[in-house]
Amino acid sequence: MDLHIAILPGDGIGGEVIDAAMRVLARVATKFGHNVYPQYADVGWAAIDKLGHALPKKTREICATSQAILFGAVGLPDRDKTLPLQDRPERVALLELRKGLFVNLRHIVLLPGLASRCPLKNELIQNGIDIMIIRELTGGLYYGQPQGVTGTAPHRKAVDTMAYTEEECQRIIRAGFAMARQRRKKLLSVDKANILATSGLWRQTAVAVHKEFPDVQLEHMYVDNAAMQLLRRPSTFDVIVTENTFGDILSDEASMLAGSIGLVPSACLANFDSSGVAADGAGPTPFYEPIHGSAPDIAGKNLANPVGTILTVAMMLRYTFKLPVEAAAIDTATYAVLNEGQVRTGDLGGMATCSQMTEAILARL
Ligand code: IPM
Ligand code: MG
Repeated sequence: MDLHIAILPGDGIGGEVIDAAMRVLARVATKFGHNVYPQYADVGWAAIDKLGHALPKKTREICATSQAILFGAVGLPDRDKTLPLQDRPERVALLELRKGLFVNLRHIVLLPGLASRCPLKNELIQNGIDIMIIRELTGGLYYGQPQGVTGTAPHRKAVDTMAYTEEECQRIIRAGFAMARQRRKKLLSVDKANILATSGLWRQTAVAVHKEFPDVQLEHMYVDNAAMQLLRRPSTFDVIVTENTFGDILSDEASMLAGSIGLVPSACLANFDSSGVAADGAGPTPFYEPIHGSAPDIAGKNLANPVGTILTVAMMLRYTFKLPVEAAAIDTATYAVLNEGQVRTGDLGGMATCSQMTEAILARL
């Protein structure tokens, strides 16, 4: 198979983790007889410095004509704060490239070998942790209008709007059920229906959509309680579906259950039908990124953990290219290295460099 992929390393450690993941992808492609056609493009501060815009036209074109986008990270806090919110790379590049990709999958797995890196006590994690968070990615507070600041200091007023249509709720909740069907047939819908109108609509929609998936068990939980229960009984969670901001926060919290945010991959997809396959026809290009950021403090030092990005490549093979065997090969090799524990980066308490970690995974492939 030919794989046409836009590669956007971006800022900070983006370049290092993308290089690592591309080595792994190249190895898997050779092993299984596929051809990778990567097209590198500038994004974030890297693009502002070169071309004056965080998401240059050329980059957009490359993304639009590729089958998938592999993204490192954007943003450099010191420089970001020199720009107004609406001009920062997060908004100009990241949110722009994710437009229309309403299904954000964030997969959190605690491997037995990493139990000591999980901040929870052994008795709480001994049954393992494997959680798929499905975050709604194109609605809610990030995009709702009005948004902005009015008035003059010291009497300014800032507004963000949380808005969801019933259709927006339906399609993401359907994605949740479809994913649950492929896993333990349990879906947890997280909202704040005791207080928010959007959550009320969300919950009613979840109950209605449930009729299409009678084989899946549906549960509801308030987001504050979910944040607490994730630490109290993490093993009981399986598939979580929730709106944009709740998903942003819960997924960072949950990432620590895996031992490090550096381990967590994600996929942003334009669809996820009842057979669980992302539609790859018309529409925005599927977007894949590790959930960590640009980590400027360790950038350029070969210290970053490449695992989040390597597992992100596995997600890309699984969801966009429908290559589950190849995806599983990457997951298996990566998990084996982490479970063995000989080679670990600093975020996991080890001394290995990004390249050493990558080489250990390559050796397993
Ligand atoms: C994430 C990030 C982004 C988000 C920011 C950088 C805009 O936190 O991918 O979770 O909130 O979506
Ligand atoms: Mg986040």
